Amino acid sequence: MIHGIDWNRMWTEEMEKSSWKKRRGDMTEFWDKRARRFNQSVKDDDRPARILSKLDVDPECSVLDIGAGPGTLTIPLAKIVKHVTVVEPSSGMLAYLDKNAANEGLKNITCINKEWEDVYPGEDLDEYDIVIASYSLSMLDMAKALSKMDTVAKRSVYLFTFAGDRMWDYTDLWPKLYGEEYRAGPDYIYLYNILYQIGILADVEISTTEHKQRFSNLEDAVEQWKENLGISTPEAEKVIQAHLTAKLIKENGSLWSKNTMRSVSICWRK
Ligand SMILES: C[S@@+](CC[C@H](N)C(=O)[O-])C[C@H]1O[C@@H](n2cnc3c(N)ncnc32)[C@H](O)[C@@H]1O
Repeated sequence: MIHGIDWNRMWTEEMEKSSWKKRRGDMTEFWDKRARRFNQSVKDDDRPARILSKLDVDPECSVLDIGAGPGTLTIPLAKIVKHVTVVEPSSGMLAYLDKNAANEGLKNITCINKEWEDVYPGEDLDEYDIVIASYSLSMLDMAKALSKMDTVAKRSVYLFTFAGDRMWDYTDLWPKLYGEEYRAGPDYIYLYNILYQIGILADVEISTTEHKQRFSNLEDAVEQWKENLGISTPEAEKVIQAHLTAKLIKENGSLWSKNTMRSVSICWRK
């Protein structure tokens, strides 16, 4: 019965129907624009440390980090492993990764400025002890993307993603701005089932975590939301301001956005 369900096709359909995909088109351009603030937000977050504590790494191993962003995991990993290879399509994100690596004096990172779909084992890719994709699973053909990860992994593959709501929840705001329901896109349950259908029985761990981001004031927060949404009309600004006034929390002279989410780690060993 389960074999009659095409989880990969359902993943592609849900991705295509997701609000971001429909509104934003080119996601690399989207990440280029978000790079500066994303780099900053990672520094206030305990997510990188939480993820690192789950990885089975040692000083001799090689790591592949897919969709590394500004080096959220690459930078701390490069301090403890032999070499990290990054596949990251956003040159804006890579510019921050380079800067972060230079600040730490790290010279064991290689970057490939491409999408995961456009790199090939034996050409751009070698084999790696550990393969990681953290909050970067936006490929449309997920079965193909996951099979490629499995092909280049020698020891283990780790995926980090969401169950249900994302770290940024637009459920309330989206209809006010665009007059349509917000659709977040597919979550971990699709990934787990796609893996099952390509013959990989993965371990799954779900935990409740808090995602928080600090803003110096309300204007700063409004600017970020406008930037994220790519929207700048005075009407939209009013809607965003009202939304954030109700949502942000004041603490120690700063404003905080705090969201509880269900974080998922999916891991399989070779
Ligand atoms: C939310 S950020 C996550 C960054 C980092 N891994 C982390 O955990 O903070 C998503 C990143 O995935 C990258 N990305 C999106 N689609 C990708 C693809 N098809 N192949 C490789 N990277 C991709 C984006 O450019 C972006 O830098």
